[in-house]
Amino acid sequence: MIKVRDLHKSFNNHAVLNGVNLELLDGEVLSIIGKSGTGKSVLIKSILGLIEPDSGSVEVDGMEVVGMSEDQFNAKVRNNISIVFQEGALWDSMNVGENIELALQIKKHLDPEEREEIVIDSLRKVGLENIRYVYPEELSGGMMKRVAIARAIATRPKYLFYDEPTTGLDPVLSNVINNLIKKLNAELGITTLIISHDIKGVETVSDRVAMLYEGKVVHTCNAKEMWQQENKIFNDFIRGRMGINEY
Ligand SMILES: Nc1ncnc2c1ncn2[C@@H]1O[C@H](COP(=O)(O)OP(=O)(O)O)[C@@H](O)[C@H]1O
Ligand SMILES: [Mg+2]
Repeated sequence: MIKVRDLHKSFNNHAVLNGVNLELLDGEVLSIIGKSGTGKSVLIKSILGLIEPDSGSVEVDGMEVVGMSEDQFNAKVRNNISIVFQEGALWDSMNVGENIELALQIKKHLDPEEREEIVIDSLRKVGLENIRYVYPEELSGGMMKRVAIARAIATRPKYLFYDEPTTGLDPVLSNVINNLIKKLNAELGITTLIISHDIKGVETVSDRVAMLYEGKVVHTCNAKEMWQQENKIFNDFIRGRMGINEY
């Protein structure tokens, strides 16, 4: 379980996170929604130790990670959490298999056969076992995203974060990715945190939804009940009614 308590982060005197409270429960899929620029990426980067919060607490499996040294973080937490960045971030000069192997560098005890087995198995899990020797430039956007997911699961993380996994994909490909996220959660038991604007996708994939607004989580609910909520900010947002001048 990951517990975020009263997390604050400002940039140039602008409070981006202003007391965020959030729990990610073991086994669930939690989606964080909110307008562009509200600090969703800052929030997950703070959990991942990529951004140092100003104050507050992030506990991963009972361990406080705010203030932890990089060495300690790498030794105790890093292995358990993977992220699929929005850009996918594959290296053009390496083929798909080599890109996935990069993620295994932290697993130094593996021999070459074990590495190869994990690469193939990770590709199989995203339905792409035949593209091990293909280069990123030959891949479609949806395939690139699936390779990025294969790379993220190669280390067998307990937690997997996705930063806007369907942004820029058409509705059909978005569906493919959403189904894959759900499948990996169900079959591998990966606890999943998604940042998304894709409300339809959020509804089908998530167990719970949390909305970030003005630096705080203003509302959390079960995804199945998201259309029956009374919170006005949440309702306006999921129905696309949030006018630029209104808030
Ligand atoms: N490293 C940084 N330095 C300065 N400002 C940043 C940095 N990272 C994010 N911000 C600012 O924090 C705000 C929230 O950004 P972000 O978390 O990327 O939003 P979201 O992911 O919700 O679209 C934005 O105003 C952005 O400019
Ligand atoms: Mg973002």
